[in-house]
Amino acid sequence: MKIVAGSASSHVARYLAGSLGAQLSGVQVRRFPDDECYVRILENLDGQDVVLVQTTYPDRNLVEALLLQDAIHEFKIKKLITVIPYMAYARQDKKFNEGEPISARAMAKTIALRSDGIVLVDVHDEKITEHFSVPTVNVSAMPQIGEYLVKSAHVNLVVSPDDGAMHLARTVAEVVGCDWSWLEKKRIDGNTVEISPKHVGARDKEIAIVDDIIATGGTIITATRQLKMQGAKKVIAACTHGLFTAGALPKLRGAVDYILSADTIENETTIVSAGPEIAKGVQKLLTTLRK
Ligand code: R5P
Repeated sequence: MKIVAGSASSHVARYLAGSLGAQLSGVQVRRFPDDECYVRILENLDGQDVVLVQTTYPDRNLVEALLLQDAIHEFKIKKLITVIPYMAYARQDKKFNEGEPISARAMAKTIALRSDGIVLVDVHDEKITEHFSVPTVNVSAMPQIGEYLVKSAHVNLVVSPDDGAMHLARTVAEVVGCDWSWLEKKRIDGNTVEISPKHVGARDKEIAIVDDIIATGGTIITATRQLKMQGAKKVIAACTHGLFTAGALPKLRGAVDYILSADTIENETTIVSAGPEIAKGVQKLLTTLRK
């Protein structure tokens, strides 16, 4: 088996190579003067199962993934599994207004065209897997986040900022061995959210707030304010995908006691790897595809 690393996902790709006993292929990626992407696979992939690993954010990384898929198919490979550590556009998973696309579906259809199987990580909504026309598994970085919290922090309550992420809070709490709860969030616009004053038993608690994505930080900052008003002693923010749009990190650092994210988007808060769960997802898919 060969692992092809896109330039946004070298950390996950290296982990997978080690864990699956596969070789990392040499890949050249550069930009033309007009910023178009150039890719080249530097070794023969004939006869191999190939795992391509590439986060599709920002857009330039999606283009790189599509070019790498095409380059991989120039060889006589067995199967191509595309691992998308962070699937961009997943939050537009329905039409909010007439005339809009279902962006998650558009991305899924495009990526699946040249894949035999797909592995996603904490995709925004599990139902998005149904838009892929090939076998697709969604794994979670939350077990690894839970293990990190057990080793490095004292947490006795896990909270999600909304009901959409309660399954993430439950998974982390099961690993940590503590209670979990969720807040009620209403999004006003892209930068503003409202969290209802729902009582979650935060008094004197050391809390981890967990979410799939942190983007502007608005959700976590508002949730932290609510938990601190309820008497929380400490708040740690943990997410799988640390997007951190401009200015988000300094604002978050002023609000929470500690921030961590997984390596689906490599950034300065990345401290845990989604690799172990992705490796299990790849193995599961290969078993399905070989039947
Ligand atoms: C939305 O439902 C997601 O799960 C996150 O809560 C959201 O993307 C976080 O965005 P922000 O950091 O901009 O509040």
